[in-house]
Amino acid sequence: MIYGIGNDICDLRRIRESIARHGDRFAQKILSDAEFNVWKARGERWPERGVSYLATRFSAKESFSKAIGLGMRMPMTWKLCEIASLPSGKPTIVLHGSLKEWFESRQLTAHISVSDETDYAASFCVVEVKQPI
Ligand SMILES: CC(C)(COP(=O)(O)OP(=O)(O)OC[C@H]1O[C@@H](n2cnc3c(N)ncnc32)[C@H](O)[C@@H]1OP(=O)(O)O)[C@@H](O)C(=O)NCCC(=O)NCCS
Repeated sequence: MIYGIGNDICDLRRIRESIARHGDRFAQKILSDAEFNVWKARGERWPERGVSYLATRFSAKESFSKAIGLGMRMPMTWKLCEIASLPSGKPTIVLHGSLKEWFESRQLTAHISVSDETDYAASFCVVEVKQPI
């Protein structure tokens, strides 16, 4: 059964400004180590792809934080919630540390979808629970 849903819209211009102002420090605050490496590789080749990558990760993490009902409150943190990609390209959520423990102890599973255009990134997350709580 559905435990929670969350969505988010993110203004790429804000992300662009934060990257311009804080550079790698902003990305390091939002991205897991694996995501940071992808961001670096994409951004070096084509800066705009770096912006959209960071914006879709930012948005997906916010959607997930809403779907689990915590918002950005412990154990939900930016870096413990990683948005990875399956070989098909489909995004998937990989959790770490205390957030992973919190999530698994409740027998939850998550589904995430992201999208972006020139000025906005958007995402939608559905969290399911195995048994009624
Ligand atoms: C959820 C959160 C990450 C979204 O922040 P944001 O990007 O600035 O704002 P958005 O426009 O994307 O989303 C805001 C909506 O998220 C929803 N929301 C807020 N807290 C939420 C939660 N714990 N779980 C699910 N959804 C939540 C609300 O519907 C809110 O809209 P509303 O204030 O008009 O009701 C942020 O509000 C948050 O972390 N909230 C919880 C912690 C907190 O600071 N609470 C303050 C009150 S004690």
